[in-house]
Amino acid sequence: MTTLEQLFTAALEVRQKAYAPYSKFAVGAALKGTNGKIYTGCNVENVSFPCGTCAEAGAVASMNADACRLIKEIVIVADSQTLITPCGACLQRLAEFSDSKTKIHLANLKGVQKSCTLTELLPMSFAEKGLKK
Ligand code: THU
Repeated sequence: MTTLEQLFTAALEVRQKAYAPYSKFAVGAALKGTNGKIYTGCNVENVSFPCGTCAEAGAVASMNADACRLIKEIVIVADSQTLITPCGACLQRLAEFSDSKTKIHLANLKGVQKSCTLTELLPMSFAEKGLKK
């Protein structure tokens, strides 16, 4: 069984692999899918700035590549004075693969500092029902 501590360690480890030569801001994300497996991602920047991808996007892509579609919990870690939350685009990415029980853990290098739900971070996400005309 994976503990929150193990998930945090995985996020910390993948953060070391971040490619962030422009912002110099490394981010790591480790999520546990409902299949019990851990998927990780780090931010990967690009000289054409908008082409860069966030850590969460990498972890979500990796989970999907393993045919898992639901996040049980995710740890996002960065070294920042203020605790970072996923950016707006990543909140929407996480919303696609979360349910009301999915936990989002916000961490600094010392450990998880705050845990919340996606609804708390993104109360009015764009949802599939919005596609209905
Ligand atoms: N970043 C993430 O990877 N995840 C977040 O939740 C916030 C921001 C990255 C994007 C960019 O490479 C760097 O952090 C600075 O914004």
